[in-house]
Amino acid sequence: MKHSFLFCLIAIFGIPVSVLAQNKLVVNADQGHEIISKHIYGHFSEHLGHCIYGGYWVGENSPIPNTRGIRNDVVNALKEVQIPNLRWPGGCFADEYHWMDGIGPRNQRPKMVNTHWGGVTEDNSFGTHEFLDLCEQLGCEPYICGNVGSGSVEEMSKWVEYITFDGESPMANLRKQNGREKPWKVKFWGVGNENWGCGGNMTADFYADQYRRYATYCRNYGSNQLYKIAGGANSGDYNWTEVLMKSAGNQMQGLSLHHYTLPKTWSDKGSATQFDEAEYFTTIEKTLFMEELLTKHSTVMDKYDPRKRVGLIPDEWGVWYNVEPGTNPGFLYQQNTLRDAIVAGINLNIFNTHCDRVKMTNIAQTVNVLQAVILTENEKMLLTPTYWVYWLYKVHQDAVLLPVSFSCNQYESNGKKIDAVSVSASKDASGKIHISLVNIDPNKEQRIEGELRGVTLKSVSGKALTSAKINDYNTFEQPNTVSVKDFKGAKINKGTLSVTLPAKSVIMLEIE
Ligand code: AHR
Repeated sequence: MKHSFLFCLIAIFGIPVSVLAQNKLVVNADQGHEIISKHIYGHFSEHLGHCIYGGYWVGENSPIPNTRGIRNDVVNALKEVQIPNLRWPGGCFADEYHWMDGIGPRNQRPKMVNTHWGGVTEDNSFGTHEFLDLCEQLGCEPYICGNVGSGSVEEMSKWVEYITFDGESPMANLRKQNGREKPWKVKFWGVGNENWGCGGNMTADFYADQYRRYATYCRNYGSNQLYKIAGGANSGDYNWTEVLMKSAGNQMQGLSLHHYTLPKTWSDKGSATQFDEAEYFTTIEKTLFMEELLTKHSTVMDKYDPRKRVGLIPDEWGVWYNVEPGTNPGFLYQQNTLRDAIVAGINLNIFNTHCDRVKMTNIAQTVNVLQAVILTENEKMLLTPTYWVYWLYKVHQDAVLLPVSFSCNQYESNGKKIDAVSVSASKDASGKIHISLVNIDPNKEQRIEGELRGVTLKSVSGKALTSAKINDYNTFEQPNTVSVKDFKGAKINKGTLSVTLPAKSVIMLEIE
């Protein structure tokens, strides 16, 4: 109806199609009270494949430029996206990690088998001191996940004491003996990981009891106030959230959630780079499920915590494909295309929009594993398309979420339809407005007419991430195939914003 009316207008008045905006965006720029926590832009790094070893840690004697064994190129790249926090040491690895094996002189540390990830020998050369040094170099907050599955309450309690107690105590003394006089500040602690699965195969009731025991003995020392994050649900397991909130909600500050996007099945997840439009569509459709997940988990949490004191923390999310041919299946090494940038842009828009409940998220996993933002090969490093989304979106960190209403076209493929454009908007401390837009449609550009209520528009500028093909990616030989360019497709005309989004693109607009 709407379109035939427009065609009548064209026919009668001769209005050219190009001036008819297809999508209508309203940004309430004088409203908004929720802050988009910078921690929504967090990362996750596990002892898995070449994430820690080779990805960050090369050792002090490596020819690769490093600071106390940690590679400088990776640190600099992550600082550039203002990485706000880093979750470590797992993942499934966390529930078989014994932190005391990773302190003291490196050549005396015991070795272990990394049973989850390739059965390789872990020599514990990257432990607590190295991780906290990495976080200091990055200028980000550490988020440590404790061992509930195969550890003990005492072990986790002592880890907190070792790291954060400023005074005379057995653990603080041990820390000093290992070269660190002053305690670190570590606020974020996870109490186990996937305790419904690799973290102990527990029932929700059993884990809720365990959570309360462990959390009781994780103490606040001095001004180091802990933010304790309970191990949360597997994707749409709303009962897990219900049980945890009911039994332990008053003893946690956060509740995690894990959800991965797989285009196909767990046995054949699909290729990271070789996919057709149908598989692209399915990947995006599955990505959009994050909206439903957050809404439903939040609804359960609202029942027990209507004032939204407890944060919902999707601390593992991202795309999961088949490993690159010829690589160790236990190392989860996959390439990263423009499709993955689109997925990241959509997810981050969804997280921003839910920032009243979502207080932190962690994409899996920063370097060389799953939806990595960085890939390394010996001394070489490249930035993936997903990296550039974090680079574009850093302006949303700690900004005020602006309410938007948006009516948009549909992207249609094989008779199925989804919204063609994803959006979120924020206002930063200096008053600049940022609008992140993702054109999901791989074939068509999208014209948007935007009204920003409550402000006078002076100027608009933008940056764009796109490429010729949806499965384009960066290689060590051609690292800039998918990278950010200036965007000239936005204009202000008589107080109205008009934008033309290229097909398959992620755009960040800055408006003053
Ligand atoms: O990120 C890879 C694995 O996925 C993590 O170790 C685990 O928590 C999840 O199942």
